Amino acid sequence: MVIGIIGAMVEEITPLLAHFGHYKEHHKGGNVYYEIAQGEHRIFIAYSKIGKVHAALSAGAMILSFGCEQIIFSGVAGALSAELKVGDLVLGLKLCQHDVDISAFGHALGFIPESKLYVESSPALNAIAREVANSQAIPLKEGIIASGDCFIANGEKKQWIARQFNAIAVEMEGAAVAVVCDACGIPFCILRSISDNADGSADISFDEFLESSAKRSADFVVQMCAKILQ
Ligand code: ADE
Repeated sequence: MVIGIIGAMVEEITPLLAHFGHYKEHHKGGNVYYEIAQGEHRIFIAYSKIGKVHAALSAGAMILSFGCEQIIFSGVAGALSAELKVGDLVLGLKLCQHDVDISAFGHALGFIPESKLYVESSPALNAIAREVANSQAIPLKEGIIASGDCFIANGEKKQWIARQFNAIAVEMEGAAVAVVCDACGIPFCILRSISDNADGSADISFDEFLESSAKRSADFVVQMCAKILQ
């Protein structure tokens, strides 16, 4: 099995590299892909840089250049649901792009012709995430994650995304990974830990909790990998 793990920022993969320890570096398309040997299995880890374009490039490279057969995204997100608080883990059952607008041609917001408004993540990988959560009594909130190329730090915008897409969390990469994996027939899973509430104080909260929430997500993904490869 070859697993790819993508984060957006270096803080999101540092705990993974620290955990696995030894790796080989591959430089491709402006990113570094860290290859870890696990017996006959391999894990590739990379941070894409922020945003949907970078995330799509990394997912594409992982699949098409490094032969990854499953992709897991690990990182942080802003909370849209009032039930989520900083540090909570979120599993994206469906991903959408809140910043896509071709409504001038009659299309629903978020919809691109010949693509999908919502891309569903892998039921098998999501089941593994639930197993990890249940085995350690870690609360895992599940729902729709909305992605877009903007950091949401505004109460009104946050409410609009939540209502328009029925989303519980917002970030900037998940849907891009989802679209690439879906197009390539690769199972994927989007795991996020909340760093902020996507409101007026989101920037301050993000800076404060990026590292701790990224580690929470990464630690969870390490356990998912152990289950996948066992
Ligand atoms: N990632 C973490 N917090 C975010 C926010 N508020 N908006 C977009 N992406 C995020």
